Amino acid sequence: MRMILVGPPGAGKGTQAARLIERLQIPHISSGDMLRAAVKAGSELGKQADGYMKAGQLVPDDLVIAMIIERIGQEDCARGFMLDGFPRTRPQAEALDKDLDAAGASLDTVLLIEVPDELIVERITGRRMDPETGDIYHVQFKPPPAEIAARVTQRKDDTEEAVKARLEKYHSETAPIVPFYEERGILRRADGVGRPEEVTERIAAALGDLL
Ligand code: AP5
Repeated sequence: MRMILVGPPGAGKGTQAARLIERLQIPHISSGDMLRAAVKAGSELGKQADGYMKAGQLVPDDLVIAMIIERIGQEDCARGFMLDGFPRTRPQAEALDKDLDAAGASLDTVLLIEVPDELIVERITGRRMDPETGDIYHVQFKPPPAEIAARVTQRKDDTEEAVKARLEKYHSETAPIVPFYEERGILRRADGVGRPEEVTERIAAALGDLL
């Protein structure tokens, strides 16, 4: 199964991916997680990406495309993968197509998780991450358990100001790739509003025959 998760910041892509991969047993490849790891490691890519990410801007296409194409060429992706956060622009979608074509492979599905803008700021500013496990929490909707509460952290780009910039980028750069996949008949949609368990059920229904 080769699939892509698309949705605005805070739609629940990371939350739902963690549940889906248990079922699908394919690598979860989050471009945001990879870039944050590069920033933390202080690599050349991380140094170039850091400023864009903090400001809620997109990292330049050439950097992200090279990072993802290299990753999906690794052996653990031979039986499939779940891309989360990539592609995010038309040039990224085209580069992915070109790479898959060259490998004689194709995408099975693109899942769009839909959440209106008015719910996003609350989700993002309340998000907390466990740096040891990568688990995602929310101060109100999914509070971290007491034993890890002291170690959870907040992402640098989870401020109200940065999330507004991220939403603008989502609408101007990423939403336009949705019709690109819809025209090919591989787009599936799931309503991302409601409890995470409800969203998981809707996703399972939307993916139906593919699971
Ligand atoms: P990235 O890490 O991809 O961030 P994002 O797309 O903005 O998505 P998020 O991780 O913020 O949200 P999510 O949908 O995964 O939501 P989550 O499940 O955590 O990218 C970060 C940055 O990296 C970009 O801004 C850019 O700079 C750069 N970048 C990455 N990829 C790039 C690319 N391809 N090209 C260029 N630049 C790139 O949930 C959010 C919160 O809501 C959590 O607290 C969660 O607990 C809560 N929640 C989840 N579901 C529910 C629910 N149903 N009800 C209530 N709360 C919920």
